[in-house]
Amino acid sequence: MSQKNIRNFSIIAHIDHGKSTLADRMLEATQTIEKRKMKEQVLDKMDLERERGITIKMQPVRMEYNMSGNSFILNLIDTPGHIDFSYEVSRSLAAVEGVILLIDATQGVQAQTLTTLDMARKLELPIIPVLNKIDLPGARIEETMAEVIELLHCAKEDIVCVSAKTGKGVDELIATVIERVPPPKDEESDKLQALIFDFEYSNHQGVIVYARVFSGSVSSDNALTFLGVEKDFSASEVGVFSPERVKCEKLSAGEIGYIVTGVKEPHISQVGDTITHTRGKAAAIPGFCQPRPVVWASVYPESQDDFDLLAQSLSKLSLSDSSISYEEESSGSLGRGFRCGFLGMLHFEIIMERLRREFNLELVIASPTITYEVIHEGGKKEIIYSPPRFPDHGTYMKALEPWVIATIITPKEYIGGIMQLVYEHEGVAGDTETFGKDRISISIQMPLRELMRNFFDELKSISSGYASLSYEYDDMRDADVVRLDVLVAGEAVPALSRIVSERRMQKDADRIVEQLRNILPRQLFVIKIQAQARGRILSSRTLSALKKNVTAHLYGGDITRKKKLREKQKKGKKKMREQGKVRIPQSVFLKVVRGN
Ligand code: GTP
Repeated sequence: MSQKNIRNFSIIAHIDHGKSTLADRMLEATQTIEKRKMKEQVLDKMDLERERGITIKMQPVRMEYNMSGNSFILNLIDTPGHIDFSYEVSRSLAAVEGVILLIDATQGVQAQTLTTLDMARKLELPIIPVLNKIDLPGARIEETMAEVIELLHCAKEDIVCVSAKTGKGVDELIATVIERVPPPKDEESDKLQALIFDFEYSNHQGVIVYARVFSGSVSSDNALTFLGVEKDFSASEVGVFSPERVKCEKLSAGEIGYIVTGVKEPHISQVGDTITHTRGKAAAIPGFCQPRPVVWASVYPESQDDFDLLAQSLSKLSLSDSSISYEEESSGSLGRGFRCGFLGMLHFEIIMERLRREFNLELVIASPTITYEVIHEGGKKEIIYSPPRFPDHGTYMKALEPWVIATIITPKEYIGGIMQLVYEHEGVAGDTETFGKDRISISIQMPLRELMRNFFDELKSISSGYASLSYEYDDMRDADVVRLDVLVAGEAVPALSRIVSERRMQKDADRIVEQLRNILPRQLFVIKIQAQARGRILSSRTLSALKKNVTAHLYGGDITRKKKLREKQKKGKKKMREQGKVRIPQSVFLKVVRGN
């Protein structure tokens, strides 16, 4: 089919605005999947996603559609809606020629949509605004249209109204995609340039990349190269998504499909890299970069016998997700484990969940933290991503931490509470703008550390669930933070160290000490639980001893014998206290991390 009849597009939407449901209706309208074979949300890949009702990323799909006697190929690829994956979003958008901006008419425009929309605008992609859920009685069609017109500076006639539930308006939307999304551009070169926007791993076929071909063509048996990592391989199969993989002879310029690479090593295939022919290489498509972990956490197997299994599982996961980084570490109390880097909190949660489900691993997760930069005297820079390694106060020149720029959209009545919350999280509120009739958008800046401290949940609860938030990473700024150590029976427990702001250090010290006093099992002797920062003990509590009645077995009242036994017990306790080892069970670490 001629390139002129291809349309490559994406749908961007806030969570729950109906992206997966709309994709399902498109599959039906184009008869890609017969209605009777349809199960809800065909394109959601993982069980995890189905269960949580969130799509991290939908499977790409190729549909065929006849309009006015012409047949068209429509390739829909997804952009993950979450900020953790913003780099992948930018690469997916680079693979298409237009986007549908889907808005739930009962909710209006929400903050998370705006970030992705900004990226689409920077790439100068045509944007088709679509109002969804118009079948619902609560749909505020006129008001939402007004918001969209204000946001996109478009005409009312440009907006398409659909119900992804009933299918109303879906044919009209497909016709609009064909009209307004341009066909792929003709590239002059016939050298192969294919952009990787996603990939999966199969035990049997190795890495299978999902790619958009910009120029040239690729067939099975071609000798190919990943340009970014300079690795050669041979394609054993190419094909398209229908939505299941269907083999074809070749993929040509303008098309979207998959290439089976046979590669079985991690970190070779990466989103944003370019594939080309090994003989007659094309230039790389600009914009490729290595993933940058933002959140770090230590992960230990609950039983040390599972250490090898954990190592294998991480290596296996990184075959289908090259953005995970990990290195081995060991901790006195937890044994051998890994320090792992993630793109953000959602990515961290997904990987932990996958390790538990797919590999049946029981894990202990210690101290999730962000990356800090410490500048030493003389200007030497040290990157810190593990709290116990953060240097002592006064031994370095300054510390830097990542900040985010965030946008909050909220109904006006919650603004007071939100401003207070922003202040409590060390944020700085910037411009506010009226958004639509009765909503307001606020731009704020905040340390990422504070954003991770439950800010999102608190925002939702303060605004009865109405406020939405989106953010992007900004620069590194001066950080007023210190390392808070926890001492149990006079000994520091590295797995419990954390980096806290100076402003909250006393509060945090009291909280962790109190929490440990409640959850640490009592010992036969009294133990001290303390929190220390800047060389000072900030908080201290004692955990009383477990009372063991050593005279219980004695019958009658031989007082000298009882006295003797008690003296012996006293001496024993003194000895234990002096030797001072307290074994902290892993359940305690888990409770501390979970905050309960
Ligand atoms: P994420 O996967 O979480 O990003 O959400 P999504 O944007 O893919 O939304 P999804 O398709 O899962 O839809 C969210 C909810 O809205 C589901 O319960 C859908 O059944 C419902 N829904 C979607 N479109 C419509 C619609 O047009 N009308 C009505 N009444 N419900 C809809």
